[in-house]
Amino acid sequence: MTTATARAFPNIALVKYWGKHDEDLILPVAGSLSLTLDAFPTTTTVTLDDSLDADAFTLNGTVQTGNAADRVTRFLARVRELAGVETRAVVTSTNEAPTGAGLASSASGFAALATAAARAYGLDLDRRDLSRLARRGSGSASRSLVEGLAVWHAGDDTHSYAEPVTGPDMRMVIVTVDTAQKAVSSRAAMRRTALTSPFFPAWISSTEESLAAMLEACAAADFTRVGRITESHALRMHAVIQSCDPPIRYLAPTSVAIFDAVAALREQGVEAYATADAGPNVAVIVRPEQAEALRDALEGFGSVRLVGPGAGAEIIDAPVDGPVAGADA
Ligand code: PMV
Repeated sequence: MTTATARAFPNIALVKYWGKHDEDLILPVAGSLSLTLDAFPTTTTVTLDDSLDADAFTLNGTVQTGNAADRVTRFLARVRELAGVETRAVVTSTNEAPTGAGLASSASGFAALATAAARAYGLDLDRRDLSRLARRGSGSASRSLVEGLAVWHAGDDTHSYAEPVTGPDMRMVIVTVDTAQKAVSSRAAMRRTALTSPFFPAWISSTEESLAAMLEACAAADFTRVGRITESHALRMHAVIQSCDPPIRYLAPTSVAIFDAVAALREQGVEAYATADAGPNVAVIVRPEQAEALRDALEGFGSVRLVGPGAGAEIIDAPVDGPVAGADA
């Protein structure tokens, strides 16, 4: 029996990924940049089992069927193809973030699954190839292989992976407004945006410009510029999403109120900038020394959590059969 356990953290994009130019390979229309967090991890164990004729997937103690199970099976099929192994697997995952509420649980989920499955199936992949593999599960998962700030390159299958970027030190306050599953998945909403929004071409070119500016701001460790790009880029993503037909709106009235509160805090000298993914929850970046003041100021809007840069996906347990040099047993 071969088994491996990996842990991965979610990431929040400061320059967003929204739109694919290849839906099978999950290649994005533009690059993106994110911060991997030190909270809300997913821990996933993959155990190969010769007696199974189908994969089994349990999430937070509940056996999964339908779409969630199908996505895991499709992903493992890719791993089996790379490994040249047919054996099915039991996948057991625990997720500390509310699943499906725009807190990037698919990012930590597929980053942990890619890392654990690659080890359990005996693939020897470096971080770049693990990032490419995780991308096939969920685009944003490619970035959770990387600690702290990560850029995910657009490009062909070989060149579309995430790698670390150096930038200003920052903290993030996550305001959870609503933990309900979102009404339209990011996958379906991206497709609808690409097919129906008249603004989609402008979104692609403006994301390329935002990413180039963001990389410059990171290289200069310029927190103010990073923050300004983050907030305006997030609002542009929500604008293009709202412009599709039929329209989709992820931001709730409370989300908008948080953007306003953050702007008001800036006037008072707390330098913070807001962003939001495909859901109503808001993530606010801030300089480390002002992080606690920001958290206290946002407490009335929902449950708040102060987080910082976290580790990339990693194996946390992989017992091996039989004696191994240097091992205890
Ligand atoms: O990886 P997906 O399919 O869950 O898409 C994530 C999209 C956003 O979270 C909205 C943006 C991003 O770059 O993470």
